[in-house]
Amino acid sequence: DWIMQGHVEEAVAKIRDQVGDEEVILGLSGGVDSSVAAALIHRAIGDQLTCVFVDHGLLRLNEGDMVMAMFEGQLHARVIRVDASDLFLGQLAGVTDPEQKRKIIGGLFVDVFKAEAAKLKAGSGGHKGATFLAQGTIYPDVIESGGAKSKKAVTIKSHHNVGGLPEQLGLKLLEPLRDLFKDEVRELGVALDLPHDMVYRHPFPGPGLGVRILGEVKKDYADLLRRADAIFIEELRAHIDPASGKSWYDLTSQAFTVFLPVKSVGVMGDGRTYDYVVALRAVQTSDFMTADWAELPYALLKKVSSRIINEVRGINRVTYDVSSKPPATIEWE
Ligand code: XMP
Repeated sequence: DWIMQGHVEEAVAKIRDQVGDEEVILGLSGGVDSSVAAALIHRAIGDQLTCVFVDHGLLRLNEGDMVMAMFEGQLHARVIRVDASDLFLGQLAGVTDPEQKRKIIGGLFVDVFKAEAAKLKAGSGGHKGATFLAQGTIYPDVIESGGAKSKKAVTIKSHHNVGGLPEQLGLKLLEPLRDLFKDEVRELGVALDLPHDMVYRHPFPGPGLGVRILGEVKKDYADLLRRADAIFIEELRAHIDPASGKSWYDLTSQAFTVFLPVKSVGVMGDGRTYDYVVALRAVQTSDFMTADWAELPYALLKKVSSRIINEVRGINRVTYDVSSKPPATIEWE
């Protein structure tokens, strides 16, 4: 609407004013916040922005290609895609502890990003070198890092935190979303012509599938999980609840598939199978601090289960997680 268009114009003017003729780097993850920040900054300063998209090999099916198609293909933004999957999977080999996995993924992520940022800071071929680092920080992140979070007595999960990166890189900080709440960020994304599906995406954790493959992360497991998860998400989007007219994707706050590295016996045709198990997880929540498991229709669960088992050779059993938070967490690790 025109009110949001006014906000876009205002935000664009502010960015131009702040950046002038300098150059900006932004870490693009494919999530809502960094995507909206990228689209907004690109609208303001075009090629003075370079996005760095680090693919850690733990993204969802075709996610990397979709991010590139959107930002490079459609918006014509400068995007550097770093395929670091071998590096991440190599360092994760043999590691089973969830917190250890998070530390490795978070640490490597910062290393890879810093190396790219250092190159961009130096400049080359018509680019004089970046002086700003842009981040998709939103208002709730500002509050969280200021207080409530640090007072928590026990760390349940160490989220990876890129605080301090601009100082370490010697770059100035550009945070055009820092006064906005999530729903305002989404409206801004729509006003910037980002696709609805991208703007209303469920959150995805920084460590990605690394915390959705229980225990050791292996490429084969990730490949199976990606295919199973894509089926679950596709069916959630396709199933419309008649009462609300909304899809079950929009009726849930977060939904995904978890890979369980255990094998169980099954039967297919006239043969025996001995394959892996996946769990479906779907929750409803307003703040992600507490969450209820979603009462998905049986018809939907049935369709997802039968498609996964028939289409993903290597998985022969599908379970549904009926645990609320607390005491369970949303992610399994
Ligand atoms: P839990 O599993 O703690 O998740 O109930 C609450 C929300 O946080 C997300 N999550 C993470 N996000 N890095 C992130 O960026 C992480 O390490 C991480 N762990 C959990 C989770 O997806 C859910 O939305």
